[in-house]
Amino acid sequence: MTASRAAAWLMLGLCAQRCAAQLPGMPLPAQCVGAAEGPAPRSDLNWPANETKLAQSMRQVDQGQGAEIIFYGDSIFWEYTGENLNGAPTKADLARKAILDKDFANHSYEVAAIPGDESGNLLWRLETGGEFPTIHMPKTVVILIGTNDLSYSDCHEDQQELLNAAPGIVNRVTQIVTYIHTKSPKTQIVLLGILPRGGLYWEKDQAWIWPNRYTAAIAAVNAGYYALAEALPQYVKYVYCGKPYAYEYGMNFEYVEDGIHPNQKGLELLAQCIQKDVDTDLATPMYTN
Ligand SMILES: *[C@@H]1O[C@H](CO)[C@@H](O)[C@H](O)[C@H]1NC(C)=O
Ligand SMILES: *[C@@H]1O[C@H](CO)[C@@H](O)[C@H](O)[C@H]1NC(C)=O
Repeated sequence: MTASRAAAWLMLGLCAQRCAAQLPGMPLPAQCVGAAEGPAPRSDLNWPANETKLAQSMRQVDQGQGAEIIFYGDSIFWEYTGENLNGAPTKADLARKAILDKDFANHSYEVAAIPGDESGNLLWRLETGGEFPTIHMPKTVVILIGTNDLSYSDCHEDQQELLNAAPGIVNRVTQIVTYIHTKSPKTQIVLLGILPRGGLYWEKDQAWIWPNRYTAAIAAVNAGYYALAEALPQYVKYVYCGKPYAYEYGMNFEYVEDGIHPNQKGLELLAQCIQKDVDTDLATPMYTN
């Protein structure tokens, strides 16, 4: 089992509590909780322990040399860590870790990502969890978050319901950006658009369908991210790297592993897409320590 599949199964386990009643034909869920609407720590499985461990390691980095670039996100960025939730990293895990080591060889960077995280969880990790530096400010922060908010809002397989979740996601990401800018006004923020995705990926018949009920909501969230960047051009840049992952009809299995997570090749493309922008940023003498 690869790491991201392990993550998928963990999320499935999580979903068994939160979404079991949402399968087609089942009664509508009374317990459907939707996305976390404000800053919230994780409470499911052993993820709080992951938050603690990540915060500790980010503090250590901050007390040492710091990092020029920090990647904040969910399972998609987590794949770059090469970690394996079931034990020792496999060859495939290590190959994923090598991607950033290669593309960001000339910079120090940290990946602060937790599988299954929503925007409200990331907001909490920054504001309260202690993951944002206090000593060595990053030159660039790269953010990819929001797709899990949509997963948790997907209670009735209804496009409008997902669309209704979009403003809340944009609002929380605005708070994330505001927090970072308040703590570190010179940090450049690269805000990535949510990538195309299939339906819930354990629903095998839906994982590879595109466009789907998520499509309009993803477009609405990304339009909100774009508008946010347009309003704050001095320090926020919107970057969309999602093109390779979907055809006009159907997700692209060449770059996507399970309908949602980029595979090795997909992660290489994503890193290259980000790198172009980050290198431009780091070359501008905007940031002086
Ligand atoms: C992170 O959470 C997952 C899911 O519960 C668990 O498998 C893993 O052991 C946790 N990691 C730590 C450091 O506790
Ligand atoms: C790192 O810097 C060297 C020397 O400037 C350059 O040749 C190389 O392409 C850079 N590597 C990356 C991944 O940008």
